[in-house]
Parts: sequence; C-alpha cells; structure tokens
Amino acid sequence: MKLRKKIVAGNWKMNKSISDGQDLANGIKRELAENCDVDVVLCPPFTLLKSVSDIIDMTQIRLGAQNMHWESDGAYTGEISAGMLRDLFCHYVILGHSERRAMFGETNQVVNRKVKAALARNLTPIVCVGETLEERDSGAYMKIIETQVRESLEGIGDDFEKIILAYEPVWAIGTGRTASPEQAQEVHAGIRAVLTEIAGKDVAEAIRIQYGGSVKPANARELFGQPDIDGGLIGGAALDVRSFVEIVRAAI
Ligand code: 13P
Repeated sequence: MKLRKKIVAGNWKMNKSISDGQDLANGIKRELAENCDVDVVLCPPFTLLKSVSDIIDMTQIRLGAQNMHWESDGAYTGEISAGMLRDLFCHYVILGHSERRAMFGETNQVVNRKVKAALARNLTPIVCVGETLEERDSGAYMKIIETQVRESLEGIGDDFEKIILAYEPVWAIGTGRTASPEQAQEVHAGIRAVLTEIAGKDVAEAIRIQYGGSVKPANARELFGQPDIDGGLIGGAALDVRSFVEIVRAAI
C-alpha cells in the first residue's frame, strides 16, 4: 500500500472579520512554524484570502477557497472563478460541501463542472460527499455516497490523482455528534473501493480521503488512525488556534 501523506484543512465557513482571521492565521503559523509531515490548508472566506495568503507566504501552510464558479469569467454576478483563486495563490478549493448542496442547490452535475474547471486551472479540488441522517437510517447510505462520487468525478480522466475527497456525514457536521472511527472507516473503505473501480487500484490507493464532521482534538487521533482516513476537514474546531493545531498534531 502506498503511504499517503495526511492532510488537515480548516474550513472557516462564513466566519471571522479581517482582523480576527489575521489573528487566527498568524497564531496557526506561529505554532506550525516547523515543517511537519502533514499538509495543512486554511480555507477562509473570500474576504480573507488575500490577507491569509500574505501571512502564510513562505510557509508550508497552503491556502484554499470554499467554493468557485465553473466558468472562467463573464456575467455571473457574485461568483468567483478558478483563475481568480489562482491569482490569490490558492492551491485548493472545497467543492460540493453539503451546505452548498443543501442550501444553494448544488447537484453532483454542478460539482462535476466545478471539479473540471478547478483541475483545468491547477487547483486541487477537495470534493465533499456524505449522507443525511435520513439516508443513514435508511441503510442505503453507501449507495448514495457512491453516486455522489461517481457523478461528481465523471470524466476527469488522467486528473484523478490530483483530487482529494472528503467524507462528511451531514448528521455529524456542527452537531458534536461525530461518526465513530468504525463508521467513518467503513465509508472511507467503500469510497476507495468505488475509486478502484473507476480509476484502478494504484490511483485509488494514492487518493487522500479526509473525514469531516465534529472533528475535535479529543477524537482526531483515533479517526486519523484508521487505515483509509487520510486527515480531516475541520469546521468549528478550525476557528481556534489551539484546537486546530492540536488536530494537526494528531495527524502527525
Ligand atoms: P464541523 O467540524 O464544525 O462539524 O464542520 C465540519 C465541516 O463541515 C467541515 O467542512
């Protein structure tokens, strides 16, 4: 099995003023000054991309955005393109987060267009999938996640190796109710099996799959210790220097 480098990303969602966001980024930078064997990504809101980009310049910490449009430019009021994110030195972009799917109508087909547009501009997409509580209770959650993976990643061909997946069960997001390590591992292994069917074993073994949903310093180590969990996508706990840094250290 290939050794996959762990990746921990902070999704700040719609939080932090400019000055609070700068404080957070500076604090994280101070704590993670020494190179560690984990990829660390900060995904602030659009308004903070430039400031955070300046703060983490010349460090091992990378910048990510939380969304983008699939077109490169044009009359799309309120939208931002992959090229614009590259302009701000973004390396990553979160796509298809469940909040975007549930509240802003993003379908797998929309996510697929965005994934292709991100890859075309050399942005690494963090593609989110995950079931609702109703879907989990129905027992059919793996089938639903499989469809999300297949449709969101359709037709990306040779670029498969460049993507990152994030499994975020909707019932675990912001609820304090995390998936157990066994529940998460089961789905991660299922996703890797789907990736193996689509892209072959070597590629599937190399793709990193993050877990997201109420990851905290207290549960991070056990989650990240599962064989198919390659790091985390962190919401609430990424808004505080100490808890985010502890979660990063749990991945080392
Ligand atoms: P919480 O860590 O707040 O549950 O959020 C997870 C998430 O949605 C990250 O993208």
